[in-house]
This record gives sequence, C-alpha cells and structure tokens, in this order.
Amino acid sequence: MNQTTPLSIGILGTGHIGKTLARKLSAAGHSVKVANSRGPETIEADTLETGALPVKAENAVSDVDVVILSMPLASIPAISQLIQKLPPNVIVADTSNYYPFRDRAIDEIETGQVESEWVETQLHHPVIKVWNAIGSDSFARKGKPAGDPHRIAIPVAGDNEAHKKIVMMLVNDTGFDAFDAGQISDSWRQQPGAPAYCTDLPYDEMAAALCSAEFSRLPARRNLAVAAVQERMGDSKTNPDADFLVRLNRALYM
Ligand SMILES: NC(=O)c1ccc[n+]([C@@H]2O[C@H](COP(=O)([O-])OP(=O)(O)OC[C@H]3O[C@@H](n4cnc5c(N)ncnc54)[C@H](OP(=O)(O)O)[C@@H]3O)[C@@H](O)[C@H]2O)c1
Repeated sequence: MNQTTPLSIGILGTGHIGKTLARKLSAAGHSVKVANSRGPETIEADTLETGALPVKAENAVSDVDVVILSMPLASIPAISQLIQKLPPNVIVADTSNYYPFRDRAIDEIETGQVESEWVETQLHHPVIKVWNAIGSDSFARKGKPAGDPHRIAIPVAGDNEAHKKIVMMLVNDTGFDAFDAGQISDSWRQQPGAPAYCTDLPYDEMAAALCSAEFSRLPARRNLAVAAVQERMGDSKTNPDADFLVRLNRALYM
C-alpha cells in the first residue's frame, strides 16, 4: 500500500497514543492539528517536532478530513458537542478502550454493549475503531516499513467502508499493517481482554486471533491483566515494562 494522499487531520488527546499519532502522521506528510484538555500552550515540544500544530479543541476539529479521538473513554461525552457539529463526510477515528478502574463503571458497557457502539451513541457520529489494540510503547517504537516481515498488524473496524479504507491507509503511514476487522458490531473482538488486544501480532495471525475471541471472557481477562500490573507497580525492581505487558497480554488473552 502506498503512502496516503496528504490529509488534514485533527487529533484530540496528546497523551501516550495521541502524541505518537501526531508525530507519525505529520512525519508522513499529513497536515496535523493537535489539542488536549488544558490548552495548546501545554502541549509538549516533542509532540510537535515533526510539524503538528497545537490548537484549541474546537480548532482541531474544524476544516479537517479526519478527526482522531485519543482520550479516555469517559471523556468522550465532553467532546460530543464538537463532534455532533461535523458534517457526515468527516471521518472520526477512535482509539479509546474501556477500563472501569479509570473510566468509572458505564452501565451500558457493563451489561454488554460493544464499547465503540457506546462511543457512537455519545457522539451521534459513526466511528472507525483503530489504534486501540496496540500498546503505546509498541506504537512508538515498533513501526516498520511496509513489506517488512516483522511488521505488526493493527485491527480496524467500522461500518463506512470508504472511511475505513482511508483510516487503514493512515495505519500504514504509522508503520503498521492494517487488518480489516469488520463492522463496529464486530469490534468487541479487539477490545481489552481479546487475543488481538495489545499482543503485537503480525498480519497473518490476526484473523485467527479475532476469530478466537470470546465475548463473555473479555472483562475477566482484562481485569486480571490490570490486577497483575497493579500488583507490580511501585516496586522499582519489578515495575512492569512494555515488553512485560505484551507477554502478560499474550499469556492471559490468547
Ligand atoms: N496507553 C496505551 O498504551 C493505549 C493503547 C491503545 C489505546 N489506548 C486508549 O487510547 C486512549 C488514550 O490513551 P492514552 O494512554 O494516550 O491516554 P493519556 O496518556 O491519559 O492521554 C489522554 C489525553 O486526552 C486528553 N483529553 C482528555 N479529555 C479531553 C478533552 N475533553 N478534550 C481534549 N483532550 C482531552 C488529555 O488532555 P491533557 O493532556 O490536557 O490531560 C490527554 O492529552 C484511551 O482511551 C486509551 O484506553 C491507550
């Protein structure tokens, strides 16, 4: 897949994932604006190093082809007004995951709603679920050129096929193979606790991983991973590093 035609992209969130998205997509030639919750003056210099422009949130989503949401799932309702104003042709890509210890318990998701369907309900705009199933360290460090046999794949789910195709090209621009993971109703297969979630699989292992996901097991497996990480936190000798997290996810989720 060739590099995408340059697009105008607005990113909300400049944390672990948003920062790397800003750096990689600017470096790939896209025109990128970024915003966080505190204001453009607080955005770190290395986020902007490859050309992204710091702006306020309302400016980040105006006159763009693609909006990428990279914030805690519980913060999604706070930007709903901004997204509702967007024309239907603006692609909204969402990286969020539901972690009840961080996001508070959300009844609809606790009782079985697919996370991205909940997000769409909040936004009144369809989303493409993407970059949610790659850990921030793998995303920042493990990107490779197209065709590299060790390239990691990222699942991409959404109902608008044209929008999904464009987002898949953006995934390619960030150094990863994009795997078409189906519709939003299928996107639970890439949620926390699933075999495809943050396990750094190559393209040819992704179909089997998505297929083997078991919906009823995801929350318990996600919670086990959180507990195992929390048990090690604060101990300088065993603080989990990024490679530990991939090993842990493979052991618990696959
Ligand atoms: N960390 C990972 O390994 C990883 C991997 C894949 C997916 N994800 C998911 O991707 C999302 C982002 O994760 P992260 O780790 O990058 O989070 P993070 O480091 O906590 O960063 C969150 C960002 O969202 C911004 N934000 C919060 N509310 C906002 C609002 N109303 N308007 C604009 N910006 C707002 C924050 O702004 P401030 O900087 O001003 O606080 C911050 O920049 C989460 O849903 C997470 O589950 C994370």
